[in-house]
Amino acid sequence: MKKLRLGIIGTGIIARAHMAGILEARQSELAAVCDIKPEQAERFLNHFGLNGVKVYQNYEDMLTPGTVDAVIVSTPTVSHAEIAIQAAKAGIHVLCEKTMAMNAAEARKMADQVKGKKLVHTIGFAFRYIPAVEYIKDLIEAGKFGKIRHFRGRFYANRLAPADHVMEWRHRMREAGSGVIGDLASHTFDMFHYLARGQMGDIVKLAAHGDIIIPERVNENGEREKVTTDETLLVWMKTANQGEVTLESSRYSPFEFEFHITGSKASLKYCNYKYDTVEYLEYEREGLYAQNNAQEYSPIPVPERYYPNHIKDRFIRQYLAFEQAILGQGTVKTDFETGYDNQVFMDLIQKSYQEEKTISI
Ligand SMILES: NC(=O)c1ccc[n+]([C@@H]2O[C@H](COP(=O)([O-])OP(=O)(O)OC[C@H]3O[C@@H](n4cnc5c(N)ncnc54)[C@H](O)[C@@H]3O)[C@@H](O)[C@H]2O)c1
Repeated sequence: MKKLRLGIIGTGIIARAHMAGILEARQSELAAVCDIKPEQAERFLNHFGLNGVKVYQNYEDMLTPGTVDAVIVSTPTVSHAEIAIQAAKAGIHVLCEKTMAMNAAEARKMADQVKGKKLVHTIGFAFRYIPAVEYIKDLIEAGKFGKIRHFRGRFYANRLAPADHVMEWRHRMREAGSGVIGDLASHTFDMFHYLARGQMGDIVKLAAHGDIIIPERVNENGEREKVTTDETLLVWMKTANQGEVTLESSRYSPFEFEFHITGSKASLKYCNYKYDTVEYLEYEREGLYAQNNAQEYSPIPVPERYYPNHIKDRFIRQYLAFEQAILGQGTVKTDFETGYDNQVFMDLIQKSYQEEKTISI
């Protein structure tokens, strides 16, 4: 059988995680890579010991007929819309990294472009593909939490924390669109959306605060340059059903993706460091919010049925879902409408942060 010809546009950090998925997939092959820095594309191919893969410097040359059937867009945010729209016009399936776009208007254009087309389109909210998250979703749907009161999401990533870390696109508003808002909080907001929004209701009010901790960095040309994107963030949101959502992100704390769900019957904590375990606290009766007046959570291992093929890595699982959806044998967990909706809220969070005001929706 002919394999799915895959192209990767942007061969940086996250492209390597996607490549692990392509290597695992039985019905895909990497046909082409594209990077505005060809030496970066070569480094990428050498890292995986890949030969015979076409290398492009301009993505438009890769999107010509007969080269690829699907692409992964893993470039900085500023080019997502342009590339994804061109790919969709060429009839190519798209896995586009988050944050979907620079703003909701751009994200809308992307979602409109794929509307009505027989194309698989998805946004890289890879945390949805963690087996534990699927298990938690089932616990929620089985009513284990009662009425969900609170969703707290924290996502920290410290790679850029050192003061001598060179300025990169994530520090520049014109390339990233926002800082930790799009980079990190888009993921925790998506987790709220995936797991709890249906029950907690839509966001009706929000307020966000954040800061830039190191205001200037040395760029690739050795010049000092102003950091223009947010580096820390705290968001408070109220939902239609009297629920609260709080999201916290920082570039200055050790890497951690964590969330906490408080319901009227039980609470749960999940952290990526205990990948296959959820921490669960069931109250003695609904509304008690405790057990024997103690607050001890019990670790529960995620049942093996949540990873039947023993693949747990979220990026691999995400790619396999993308492949299967293209082959008509499965579905992806997000699409461009999911990405657009997320972008609308990232824009509102940014507005609240920049204007220092509470926004009613
Ligand atoms: N889902 C996740 O968990 C996750 C994690 C990290 C990054 N990301 C997302 O992935 C994307 C890339 O992030 P990264 O950390 O890999 O960045 P990176 O800087 O490591 O890599 C980006 C690459 O894209 C190349 N590039 C820039 N503009 C290009 C263009 N127009 N055409 C072709 N190549 C171009 C750069 O030269 C670079 O090699 C971002 O959208 C980021 O938010 C997602």
